[in-house]
Amino acid sequence: MTEHQPGIFVEGTDHHVFLEFELGAAVPSQLPAAAGALLPWDGGEQVVAFGPRLAEALSAVAAPDGDFGFRAIEGSDGHVAPATQRDLFVWLHGAKRDELFAQALKWREALAPVAALAAEDHGFLFRDSRDLTGFVDGTANPKGDVRQQAALVPRGPGAGGSFVLAQRWVHDLSAFASLATAQQERVIGRTKADSVELTGAAMPPDSHVSRTDLKRGGEPLRIYRRSSPAGGIADAGLFFLAFSAEVERFRILLGSMFGPADDGLRDRLLSWSRPISGSFYFAPPADALRAAFSA
Ligand code: HEM
Repeated sequence: MTEHQPGIFVEGTDHHVFLEFELGAAVPSQLPAAAGALLPWDGGEQVVAFGPRLAEALSAVAAPDGDFGFRAIEGSDGHVAPATQRDLFVWLHGAKRDELFAQALKWREALAPVAALAAEDHGFLFRDSRDLTGFVDGTANPKGDVRQQAALVPRGPGAGGSFVLAQRWVHDLSAFASLATAQQERVIGRTKADSVELTGAAMPPDSHVSRTDLKRGGEPLRIYRRSSPAGGIADAGLFFLAFSAEVERFRILLGSMFGPADDGLRDRLLSWSRPISGSFYFAPPADALRAAFSA
């Protein structure tokens, strides 16, 4: 298999920067040489991914699945997942916030001839990998080689690449904190202190875990999540970031969360958190990424 971008799978980093860029009038078939100079980078990890129109236009990138753009979801009870599809995504993560910041500034300068920065988020490790609601995030994430099976296109066009869901969520932390711990646990579907999955009658069918622990054709519907807490006090939430071998898995999971799904339910979590952005990207394998920038 063509080699994937290694930064996808490096875990345990404390700081994150998420940059989303929008192209100007032209959709280039090749990106500026100066931006290529930022690859590779020894100050941390970085992953670069393209939105559908750029992935299609870049001659070096073979993107599967045609138009994989994010479409807004109008779910049950007025819950909406807005579409803010952008063209280029850079995820920087590492141990030193200052180095990430400096690299983020360089990306903005290098891409300036073709694209403008449209959104930025800064993420951080919260305690022992907890979401700001206080629940451990990532417990049921795939481990070992299963991560690659979940995240990478196995064969055909785009093999070694990965589809990305980038979605910024804002929590209502005061409202969530006003719930008793047992109620919070029924929202998530796991215990708060030690992240043990609820079972039997204790597990509501509309808990977050019930809505996202899905099977397709008898097989687990796996994605590989790399989200991190993000924002300040006023807009505290989660930058949901995940990688998948198919964009369709994201659509199925979001459909199950937002409803109305076949069982008429939607995710309880939506009463305490809402997405304010949503884009799909394709992270090509490392050699195609390098070739997408002029020499
Ligand atoms: C506010 C946004 C979100 C929060 C705070 C959140 C938090 C969590 C937490 C605490 C867990 C349980 C622990 C774990 O296994 O990691 C979990 C599980 C999971 N979440 Fe989310 N999540 C959010 C959005 C999403 C979205 C948008 C998706 C998919 C598109 C998703 C997919 C999953 C999956 C697949 C699992 C594992 C289920 C299992 O197999 O047990 N989550 N999430």
